[in-house]
Amino acid sequence: MKFQSKSEAETRSIGRRLGKKLKRGDVVCLYGGLGSGKTTMAKGIASALGISERDVTSASF
Ligand SMILES: Nc1ncnc2c1ncn2[C@@H]1O[C@H](COP(=O)(O)OP(=O)(O)OP(=O)(O)O)[C@@H](O)[C@H]1O
Ligand SMILES: [Mg+2]
Repeated sequence: MKFQSKSEAETRSIGRRLGKKLKRGDVVCLYGGLGSGKTTMAKGIASALGISERDVTSASF
């Protein structure tokens, strides 16, 4: 599957959709350069799992 996001909100929403599909033990690897949206995606995944987006932080960006 291929998704193209045009905004931070859209990336978060894709993350939420992915997060809802995850099962215990699943591992998601995010690859991408600095500022490419990995943390934004992780925030969406976290929110689908009931984790506050504020608790998902990034070391660099
Ligand atoms: N389509 C998009 N999806 C996600 N972020 C976007 C998009 N367009 C612009 N942005 C902006 O790009 C930045 C992405 O930052 P984010 O922290 O998610 O990247 P990152 O891959 O985690 O970076 P780092 O490798 O430095 O940790 C944010 O400032 C966000 O507003
Ligand atoms: Mg990050």
